[in-house]
Parts: sequence; structure tokens; C-alpha cells
Amino acid sequence: MTIKTEFLRSVEWVGRSIKLLDQTKLPLTVEYIYLLTIEDVWESIHSLKVRGAPAIGITAAFGLALWAKSYDGLNMEEFLKRLKKQRYYLSSSRPTAVNLFWALDRMVASVEGVKTVIEAKGTLLSEAFSIQKEDEEICKRIGEYGIELFKDGDTILTHCNAGGIATAKYGTALAPFYIGKEKGVSLSVYATETRPLLQGGRLTVWELQNAGVDVTLITDNMVAHTIQTKNVQAIIVGADRVAANGDTANKIGTLGLAILAKEYGIPFYVAAPLSTVDLDIRTGEDIPIEQRHASEVTHIYGQQIAPEGIKVFNPAFDVTPSKYITAIITESGVLTNKFEEELRRVKKFAN
Ligand code: MRU
Repeated sequence: MTIKTEFLRSVEWVGRSIKLLDQTKLPLTVEYIYLLTIEDVWESIHSLKVRGAPAIGITAAFGLALWAKSYDGLNMEEFLKRLKKQRYYLSSSRPTAVNLFWALDRMVASVEGVKTVIEAKGTLLSEAFSIQKEDEEICKRIGEYGIELFKDGDTILTHCNAGGIATAKYGTALAPFYIGKEKGVSLSVYATETRPLLQGGRLTVWELQNAGVDVTLITDNMVAHTIQTKNVQAIIVGADRVAANGDTANKIGTLGLAILAKEYGIPFYVAAPLSTVDLDIRTGEDIPIEQRHASEVTHIYGQQIAPEGIKVFNPAFDVTPSKYITAIITESGVLTNKFEEELRRVKKFAN
């Protein structure tokens, strides 16, 4: 059965709950779960049922609206105090993608001047809807700017999943492929499997195949050979956090790809909304890197593949220094140099 990914929403508000596409089950099972409490939201983000920087932010935003809905007090001061506590609780679900903190802060700020709890509940929900809707428009714009960097027939390599289900729609790094499809620009894609959790092998190739994009799956250790032999013209990836100087945290393995791109003289593009840019962090050195459970490396689909008791290092992200990045594709255009100056300039006009 072919499922058109463009119609699948990773996150949806359905009145009494948040409907979430369980990304841990893809591609073999398309299953939705319903989050009824803020604890469900925390667990879904932490366990990667929802993942991808913008989608995490959207889910957390709806999470605060969900919590507010069930709040039965009427004292606004008390409500605000508790809301801030919930904001901190959700922010502890994952540390690297700044969209999570950005969305939570935006939610709390939206009710700062509000007088009543009833009004605040409505404001929180409409703010979450705005964050989601804006992300869809932003990703479309990223795709439109991104496609201008490629020409018909190009072969592009991508890593992890920065597609529609990692955002409200379209994705970031995958947006140019969707927009290309709409515009009749035909691109071929190599997608890395992305160990340990296989976001490339499970999600990216599934999304692109369903959208009718020519996509080929490779394992992570095939990248250099693929660039060397398959006429790859560029690499494009998403981001979880971009520091003020352009250093970028993205899925583990991204740094190696950027170094390879430099060696082979091909452009290395980062596609990210401005909500992923964290001007409070000057360089990538200060970006917190999530360390995940050893079992993600020692096991595949619950099957143990490494000896019992083996030591494991499992960082979920790495940081690519800006010197390896050819351009950062944002909703405000393609930034190609003087990243710090450019990022500060475009961020001024963003939410
Ligand atoms: O651990 P994940 O799957 O949440 O990591 C996702 C990534 O690294 C993506 O590239 C990034 O969040 C951009 S999603 C548009």
C-alpha cells in the first residue's frame, strides 16, 4: 500500500488530546497514539515517538495547551506559576534541539499579559496552532529557496530525517525535494541509514519513496564511496541547533559528511528554520549534546547484537563547525557567509 506522506501529519490537536504519528513504528506500521496528559507528551518526545527539531517544538506547544485545558483553578497568578513549572518539565525531555525551548518560551510569553485563566487557555491553544501553521509556511519557503541551489538531474545526499514528519509539513532538508517534485525539477537522492536509530533507513526513504522522489538507501559507511563514484553534487541536512557563529548541531554523523564534502569539493548545505538558531549560544562548543541509552547501540529492534556488558558511547548529535558549511537555508533566504552577522540580521525580524 502506498501512503502519500504529504497527507500524514506527525502532530495534530484533536480537541481532547494530541494525535501523534508514532515514528518509532514506521515504516512497517502507520500507527497513531493519543496523548492525554503532559506526562504522555514528555514520554513521547523522550522516546522519539515524535522527533525532529520543529516537530518536537510543536508537540511541546500543544502539550502546554493540553495541560492548561485540564487545569481547574481560576487564579491567574497561580496558573502562571504552574504553567512555568510545566514548561521546565517538558524542557527536560530532550536537550539538544532548541526548537523545544523556543516553542515553550513562546507559549509562556503568549499569556504573560493575559488576565484570566479561561482566556489564557484559549491563548495557549491558538499560539500552539500558530507555531504549527507558521512552521508549515516556513518549511515551504525553505524548500523554495533550497530548490534554487539544485538543477534538474542533480544527485544529492542527505542524512537522518529532516522531512515532513520532522516538522509541520515539507520538512527542512527534504523540502527542496518536495518542492522540486511540484515544480518538475527531478532530483535523485542518496539517504544514509543513520545508525543507531535508523531515521534515514526507516523514515527518509519511506517519505521520499511515497512522494515519488528517486531515492536510494545506503548505510552510513558507504558515504565516501558513494560521493566518489555516484556523482553526488551536494549534501543537505537539517539542524537541531545553530549557534550564533553558524556552528550546527545535527544528527550524529553529520560532521563526517561535512568533512567529506570539503574533501570532494561539493557544497554542504544546512536547511533550518530560524527557530533552530540560538543566538544565546556563541559557538557549537556550548551546544548540549544528548547522550542516549547504550541499548540503542547494542540492540537493533530489541535484538542484542553486541556482547553483554560492552562499553558504549552513544551521542545523538555532533557539531559541524561553520567553516564546513557552504550555506544555511532559512525561511529568510540562503545565508552564505558572515554567518554571525547574517543570522543576527535575519533573526531580528523572526518570531
Ligand atoms: O534524534 P532526532 O531524530 O530527533 O534527530 C533529528 C535530526 O537530527 C534532524 O536532522 C533535525 O532535527 C532536523 S528535523 C527538520
